Amino acid sequence: MSTLKAVRGTRDLLPPETELWNHVEATARRVFGHYNFGEIRTPLFEDTSLFARGVGEETDIVSKEMYTWEDRARAQSEKAQSLTLRPENTAGVVRAYIEHKLGDTGLLQKLFYIGPQFRRERPQKGRYRQFWQIGAEVIGPISAGSESPLRDAEVLEMLATFLNELGIEGWTLEINSVGSATDRPRYIAALREALAPVKHLMCEDNQRRAETNPLRVLDSKDPNDQELINNLPKIADYLDEESKAHFEQVLAALDACGVPYRVNPRLVRGLDYYTRTTFEFTHGGLGAQNALLGGGRYDGLSENIGGPKAPGIGFAMGEDRLILTLQAERQQTATLADYYIAPLSIAQNPAALELARELRRKGLRIEIGDGSFRLKKSFELANKLAKKIILLGEDEASTGILTVKDFATAEQTKVARAEIV
Ligand code: HAM
Repeated sequence: MSTLKAVRGTRDLLPPETELWNHVEATARRVFGHYNFGEIRTPLFEDTSLFARGVGEETDIVSKEMYTWEDRARAQSEKAQSLTLRPENTAGVVRAYIEHKLGDTGLLQKLFYIGPQFRRERPQKGRYRQFWQIGAEVIGPISAGSESPLRDAEVLEMLATFLNELGIEGWTLEINSVGSATDRPRYIAALREALAPVKHLMCEDNQRRAETNPLRVLDSKDPNDQELINNLPKIADYLDEESKAHFEQVLAALDACGVPYRVNPRLVRGLDYYTRTTFEFTHGGLGAQNALLGGGRYDGLSENIGGPKAPGIGFAMGEDRLILTLQAERQQTATLADYYIAPLSIAQNPAALELARELRRKGLRIEIGDGSFRLKKSFELANKLAKKIILLGEDEASTGILTVKDFATAEQTKVARAEIV
């Protein structure tokens, strides 16, 4: 029989690596808490039309990468429905915002999420079919200040703070404005016009994009097409006064709080809902998949999926990529237990478990012996797993004085049980 393995593009996360994942998630919860964000958890699958309408039919995500299936009706009263494993979380958050009428509170909603997303991409280092995102969204009625450039800058400053707290250095923030819902059609028309006489010189993918979604040509990595792409019109020249002023205010706020950035006029991002500010944080250590995180404004998304006007801005980080970056920077070793308790005969087992229970209740990390009751083997195992070993033999049981060895100092001492506990 062939052995079963995790499906291509998915993987198991094992200790000690999972400790790093928990550390990253705990840091996110702590830092986002300082900015007064609350957690939202949305379902792992949604109605397919949410992503088609929210993310955009023409995007790579929706047209090629989604895990979609026809969910059969189980009863006459039910209808079969097309469902999709979420490829991203922004559409789900905005759906929940609309469904729970969060706009009626009149307040800005500041929500973060941590969880798996699914895209049928070609797996490689830093790119998986099930991957984790840590993301956040700020969304609300205009009267709550949801359109303010201060929101954009605050989110970016929070990200810089988060990465610094994790000790991730060497990141680059690239930022651009893709304009408002009225700027974009003007720009896309100009792009189409500029592409018409040159697109036949481009790679097949770009020829197709020039027809279906000309903005996508801008983030093409095809080396032969770069010169042609650099000569295409720049979105900055098509922004109206309001979009321009908005972008300038975002940059001024970043300057004021010392968050470094690079304006990249070609940064348009792969999802259709973006308006005005878009950004990516990249990290050189990641190789080809160098985007640590991406995000931006989506002032029309709520209306596109049938909700009220609710401008918003958010981001999602690739948690897998954060972990890769951290692993490259530090050597990870397994956490040692505080004590390894070695019962020296079967009669001491209950006392060993009792002592372990008391120490664990004090908040210590405890490992208990393996039941072979051999002294040499106990010492060898304990030295791998714990900082100290406690021997529990007949003598110890009758006197209440325990033998403790500290592996760091190689010192062996007699300590009263009451003293240890
Ligand atoms: P995205 O750029 O599609 O944006 O994904 C955000 C991040 O998720 C990427 O920068 C990358 O780190 C990670 N990521 C994406 N695909 C994969 C994959 N196959 N394997 C590993 N990591 C991956 C969004 O998803 C938007 N929802 C972000 C957003 C939130 N915009 C506004 N609010």
